[in-house]
Amino acid sequence: MTAQLIDGTAIAQKVRDEVKEKVAKRIAEGKSQPGLATVLVGDRIDSATYVNMKQKACAELGMASFHHPVPADVTQEDLEKLVRELNDDPKVNGILVQLPLPDHLDEERILRLINLEKDVDGFSPINLGRLAQKGREPLFVPCTPYGCIYLLKEAGVKIAGANAVVLGRSNIVGMPAALLLIKENATVTVVHSKTKDIPAVLREADIVIAAIGRTQMVRGDWLKPGVAVIDVGINGIPMLNEDGTPVISKKTGKPRQKLVGDVNFDEAKEVASFITPVPGGVGPMTIAMLMANTLRAAEIQDK
Ligand code: GUN
Repeated sequence: MTAQLIDGTAIAQKVRDEVKEKVAKRIAEGKSQPGLATVLVGDRIDSATYVNMKQKACAELGMASFHHPVPADVTQEDLEKLVRELNDDPKVNGILVQLPLPDHLDEERILRLINLEKDVDGFSPINLGRLAQKGREPLFVPCTPYGCIYLLKEAGVKIAGANAVVLGRSNIVGMPAALLLIKENATVTVVHSKTKDIPAVLREADIVIAAIGRTQMVRGDWLKPGVAVIDVGINGIPMLNEDGTPVISKKTGKPRQKLVGDVNFDEAKEVASFITPVPGGVGPMTIAMLMANTLRAAEIQDK
């Protein structure tokens, strides 16, 4: 079998086009321009890149963005003061504090402080608690898991009644993905570092969401034929020439890297019915869903 690719870039673009159209419509109706505040603590290159992409997406979709770079040694008190100011600012509909935060900061307190109606990341304990409870709905669903489920639905994968295995139990992806799959009536197993016989657990899965941060860990023979695979992993490995030597960048003189997921794509695509590529799968969806959540925040705050 050769799996059908789930094209995250194209699906994310469709979501972005829809958001852009709705933003233009609400502005034409005299409603406010949706605004996203981004808070970046310190100078981690990966976090700075993600935040930059989020700001660019806002501009492209006609939304305002307000960027707040904060020094890595900011005190808890000062960061809390900034979040309170953003909570009180009517131009700010969504607040995104890029994670991870430096170790000296109390992440839980910061996330708890964000006004529930502005919690476009869906990381506040109340939004996550509602995601975990039957008959309750969060105002916002965390963007990456939301993107994973959106991709499965777009591909036409039946989630209700499926055996779903989530690799990884992070607060940002694995755990909320498992909760969302339960809400969608899947039977869910969460695999983590203490799980016994991970290949045997995976072989039962109709749906796999891999978010464990281990380069190409999932092998083709760990998968059930016909499984749908969503690969959240973004791992850099050296790019190699045909003779096995590293490719050296002409610009920087350093070895070039290529991005791969948590799944061995070449093996898995021969077994799965659907699979997301890395890059071009889940990655673009995170930002698209953040844009959708920010528009939703503005709509909630209209009322
Ligand atoms: N760090 C990695 N992913 C995310 C995300 O979706 N939101 C925030 N705030 N930080 C992240």
